[in-house]
Amino acid sequence: MMNKNAPIGVFDSGVGGLTVVKEIMSQIPDERIVYFGDTARVPYGNKSKETITKFSRQILHFLQTQEVKAIVVACNTASAYALDEIEKETDIPMIGVVKPGAKVASETTKNGRIGVIGTEGTVNSKIYSKYIKELNPEVSVVGKACPLFVPLAEEGLWQDPVTDEIAKRYLTELIDIDIDTLVLGCTHYPLIRDTVAKIMGNKVSLVNPAYETARELKELLAEKDLLNDTPANLGDNKYRFFVSDASEKFKVFANSIIKYGILSAKTINIEEY
Ligand code: DGL
Repeated sequence: MMNKNAPIGVFDSGVGGLTVVKEIMSQIPDERIVYFGDTARVPYGNKSKETITKFSRQILHFLQTQEVKAIVVACNTASAYALDEIEKETDIPMIGVVKPGAKVASETTKNGRIGVIGTEGTVNSKIYSKYIKELNPEVSVVGKACPLFVPLAEEGLWQDPVTDEIAKRYLTELIDIDIDTLVLGCTHYPLIRDTVAKIMGNKVSLVNPAYETARELKELLAEKDLLNDTPANLGDNKYRFFVSDASEKFKVFANSIIKYGILSAKTINIEEY
């Protein structure tokens, strides 16, 4: 029997998953969170399925030591490559970001043409296309890897002429095929949402899987009777952050995304798990 007051485990390849944490904090504010960012081994987006599965399994083992009641795979690449495998290895309910994003995209499109932007791994896995077509076989889905968006977002160039220029180069081919829905299929992309929206124009709806995942997580917890019934206070270890490297840098970035002051982030050796 899971403990309702236990934290939710959230993991990502680094800082990007904080966009998902932010949504969870706002949509289910009474929940405790343990976050792990694999800052020593980021990026995941250009690595193989085998490697990402191995990393994700180690993180699962770490989160098990934190006695989490549910796990959110906040990283799109890990959701694409590893979720199916590692969810079989535990009883802890697990949710990734891809299925919730795919569901909303399939419900949003009117002209049946959907674009998905993400890392090389996410786009090459064609996982968004698979889930979207399961829900709506009539639609066409075109993926486009946008690897430079990750460093641009991490450099804080969320609205900058350099980001505009790169976004134009990446997105023109999606504009040309007249998509009406675009999935922001990478943790970092909600940070540059305004730039993407500007380039795509107002006829294209942007889907943010981070928002949808938090909504589905809330439903999952309610369904399993796992919503926290004794809310924690902020000072009460409510939000705990772990990384595999460079905790100070993580803290600075995290504080630029999340409105609660992140007081500490602890470095752990993830290879031990
Ligand atoms: N978190 C990754 C994702 O959502 C992006 C960064 C990386 O490549 O590790 O796919």
